[in-house]
Order: sequence, then C-alpha cells, then structure tokens
Amino acid sequence: MTSTAQNVPRTTSNTGIPVESDEHSLTVSPDGPILLHDHYLIEKMAQFNRERVPERVVHAKGSGAYGFFKVTNDVSQFTKADLFQPGRTTEMLARFSTVAGEQGSPDTWRDPRGFALKFYTEHGNYDLVGNNTPIFFVRDTIKFQDFIRSQKRRPENGLRDNDMQWDFWTLSPESAHMVTWLMGDRGIPKTYRNMNGYGSHTYMWVNAGGEKFWIKYHFKTDQGIDFLTQEDADRIAGEDADCHRRDLYEAIDSGNAPSWTLYVQVMPFADAVDYRFNPFDLTKVWPHGDYPLIEVGRMTLDRNPEDYFIHIEQAAFEPSNMVPGIGPSPDKMLLGRLFSYPDTHRYRIGPNYAQLPPNRPHVPVHSYAKDGPMRFDPSRAARPYAPNSYGGPAADTAGFGEPAGWESSGEMVRHAYTLRSDDDDFGQPGTMVRNVLDDAARERLVGNVAGHLRNGVSRPVQDRALQYWRNIDKNVGDRIAAKVNGG
Ligand code: NDP
Ligand code: HEM
Repeated sequence: MTSTAQNVPRTTSNTGIPVESDEHSLTVSPDGPILLHDHYLIEKMAQFNRERVPERVVHAKGSGAYGFFKVTNDVSQFTKADLFQPGRTTEMLARFSTVAGEQGSPDTWRDPRGFALKFYTEHGNYDLVGNNTPIFFVRDTIKFQDFIRSQKRRPENGLRDNDMQWDFWTLSPESAHMVTWLMGDRGIPKTYRNMNGYGSHTYMWVNAGGEKFWIKYHFKTDQGIDFLTQEDADRIAGEDADCHRRDLYEAIDSGNAPSWTLYVQVMPFADAVDYRFNPFDLTKVWPHGDYPLIEVGRMTLDRNPEDYFIHIEQAAFEPSNMVPGIGPSPDKMLLGRLFSYPDTHRYRIGPNYAQLPPNRPHVPVHSYAKDGPMRFDPSRAARPYAPNSYGGPAADTAGFGEPAGWESSGEMVRHAYTLRSDDDDFGQPGTMVRNVLDDAARERLVGNVAGHLRNGVSRPVQDRALQYWRNIDKNVGDRIAAKVNGG
C-alpha cells in the first residue's frame, strides 16, 4: 500500500496495519501523558529493546560475503567430498573476524583473524572454521577458555591487560609458535583480502575407495600478503576503526572480487603413527618440505550480504558440519570444538538457527527436528519419530561408506600427547624467526614484542617473557631484553 501524500510506502505496524503517525505518540491532549494503548509506540520500543542477539563470545567483530568455490585440480584420489570433485563449483559464505575484541573494537588490533567458511554442498553444509594462522596458542580444549580470558578484560576494571596475556603465554610454552606469529607482521593484516587462511587442524579425507588421508588446508590470498606496522595500525584505529570491514565491502561492491587459492598438504594415513612429531598437535605446522602443497581450487567472494545482521551476525559456523569424504582427526582442540559451536549457536541465536538464510543448506532437510522457538520450517516427517511406517525419512549410508574414523583403545587418562622426538615447543618458532623472517621483519618483531612488554607488564612476568623469547631464539630474546630494559 502506498501513502497518498507521496509516492512512498505507507508505514505499517509489524502486522501490516497502517500507522497513523511516525512522529507523535498517542497522548491525552497535545501536552498530556502518553497512553499505554498506543500499540504502535509499544511495539516500537519493545522491538528496539530486542534488536541485539548476544555478540559472539569470541570473534565478535567481523565481516563477511558470499561467493563460490571452483575446483581447479583433480584431488578425487584423496577425497570423495562432493565440493572437491573435478569441475565442481559450490556456493559459499565467508566471515573474517578479529578474536578478542568486541563488536565495536578496531579492526587493526593485533590479533589472529578468523577465516570461517561455509560451503553449501550437495550433501549439506560443510563448514571449515579456521584462522589466518596454521597453528594455535594451546593444544588441549580444556585450556581454551583460560586462554581467551587472559586476552579479554580484567574483572575489576574491565580493562584489557598485557600482563594477563604474557602471564598466561609464559606459563603455557606451547603458545610460543603462535605468539611468534602474532607478534610478527602477520599479526596485523593490511586488509582481510591480504591474508591467508588455514584450516589449522589436521583433518581426514576419505576417497571413494574408502582410503583415508590426513590433510591440512591452506588458502593463499591472490591479492598478496600485506600487513600494517604497529604505528600504522594504532593510527588507523582512531581514523577508521572499521577499515577492514569497509575494505572488503567496497572491494566487492566495486566489482573487485577477492579470491584465494586452496592448497592441501596430504599425509598418508599410516605416516601419522611414527612421524617425528605429533601431526595432530595444533601448535605445529607440517613442513612444506615433508608434505608439499597440492592445488585444489579457488574461492572467490563476489556478493555482499543484502543485510549485515541477517547474513553475517546470524551466520553460525560449526566445525562439526562435515560432509561425506571429510572427517575429524584426533586433535584434542578440534574434538572439543565439535561440541562448542552448535552449543553456542543455540544460546546466541536460538535452537532453530539452522533455518536462517546464511545457515540453511541448499539441499532439502529431512531431519526429525521439530518445534522450538521461532520454528517456521515445517517438519518433513508425517510421524515425528524414527523408525515409522508412514513414509518418514530413513537413515541410509549406502554410497557414503563407514564414518570417517580411526582405531582407538587404552586407559582413560588426563595426559598430554605422548612425546615424540621433535615434540618441543620452541623448535618451529625458532625456525620461523631464523629462517623465514628477513632482517627487517625480525627487527619489527623485536620492536613489537618489546613495545607490548613495556606496556603494563609486571617485572616477574616480563622476566619470564624474556626467557621465553630466548628459548625461541637467543639472539632475538637478547635484543628484546635490551629494548625492554633499555628504557
Ligand atoms: P618453508 O620455507 O617451506 O615455509 C615457510 C612459510 O612461512 C612460507 O611458505 C609462508 O607460508 C610462511 N611465512 C613467510 N613469511 C612469514 C611471516 N612473516 N610470518 C609467518 N609466516 C610466514 O618452511 P617450512 O614449511 O619448513 O616451515 C618453516 C617455518 O615456517 C615453520 O616452522 C612455521 O613457523 C612457518 N610456516 C610454515 C608453514 C607450513 O605450513 N609449513 C605455513 C606458514 C608458516 P605461507 O605460504 O603459508 O604464507
Ligand atoms: C568462534 C569456541 C578454537 C576459529 C568461536 C565461538 C566459540 C568458539 C564459542 C563463537 C561462535 C559463535 O558464537 O558463532 C572455540 C573453542 C576452541 C576454539 C572451544 C578450542 C577448543 C578455535 C580455533 C580456531 C577457531 C583453533 C581456528 C583454527 C574460530 C572462528 C570463529 C570462532 C573463525 C568465528 C566464526 C564466525 O565467523 O562466526 N570459537 N574455538 N577457534 N572460532 Fe573458535
């Protein structure tokens, strides 16, 4: 219905009833009290009070876009997953994010960046929820909550606190590889378009013959890696706190669709047993020399969401969404994450989050789920239980094979992974500092760490941090110490 005054739609209530005024509440005379039965006013206030869903407990600030993934190389000998078959193109959604900051925090804070992908495959949604780092700070799910709290805010004053961060990191030496990464250039990407993405965990691929492989995903940016110095990042935080969100949106809006080329490292299943370090340990990479990159395809992001809240804020990524041909590994972080994400979505968005546009698979759903708050997708089952004799869906694994799994046995224990010959915490970060960074990058790393340590870190924690860096690399540790102690 259009308004008679101008050629614009007439305002209605949420139930379509024409509204009398956009500007005046119903009152007793122009100067009198407002009336409770002004239903439209009440609806407006009540709706406003409920406009937010809780922000994500981590990765709250983010940006996202739709696109597609196109296979460019034949990897069908490693996986039967529909989205990786030759010639296939699959629609997808991506969301990039910072980790510790809240919704309004600057995009340029030093932090890992989330790299969450949802592929709408012919066998349902495949979610690959990674970061811009191939590794992580801890290797057991039971430490994740503590790690995150050390990066967030102090209870008594609501302030972030470098002392908490270094206290946790230095008491958790497995963090050394990721902290080295974070304090280096890649700790502040120039834009979301200028960073790589990694699946980080080891995953399983299974081919059509049932043969299993361990794999790692690497999405390399086709825009080239680029970064911000700490000084530039600090300045931009004040000038344009949403710069990464703006950059992604504007690039896509102007037809400059960013893309990433996907490679995998493939480890034969049996190699994992006696590889020189635990290949499921999330604090370690597989050296390219041992397991070279194999090209798979390209992901292109070419469509901005038409409504940020609906498509990005309500996007629900979950590592537990795995499709036939892909499975988990015995990584103690990954296995914990398989529970955590659907659980947080039920709390943050509601139990029927899978019905919402970004989360809805592009194939028919025949689950026995029913009812619950905000349910609008009718149950497909004539009788809401299985088995039933009234034509309800019946599980059938024909064509999909056995679940992707591995053999396991032993006593129940609370214990670190069994150590192997190269299972130390400082070796790989040491290699990065010495062999991967050039002189200028090493100097920036030293400056970034020293600057961080001089900002609110207590002396005992500082001392532990200097030892931690000397364990990574004696020379770099000494240079950091000189800067910290030199005033
Ligand atoms: P390579 O020389 O084959 O690989 C080194 C890799 O380091 C590069 O391919 C690049 O990864 C990455 N890199 C380059 N500059 C930086 C930087 N400033 N910060 C972080 N990463 C950077 O050696 P190896 O595979 O034997 O690995 C040696 C070390 O390199 C590892 O200990 C690890 O710290 C680091 N690394 C290894 C990766 C792997 O998967 N093997 C991945 C990334 C880092 P990319 O091409 O992915 O950008
Ligand atoms: C978001 C838990 C480790 C990547 C989240 C969220 C939770 C969570 C609860 C919020 C999700 C939401 O509200 O939508 C955990 C736990 C971990 C863990 C328990 C360890 C056991 C990791 C690791 C990575 C990662 C290792 C990367 C390799 C992400 C990303 C998001 C996220 C990218 C944001 C997803 C989005 O864009 O919506 N995590 N996480 N997390 N996590 Fe983790």
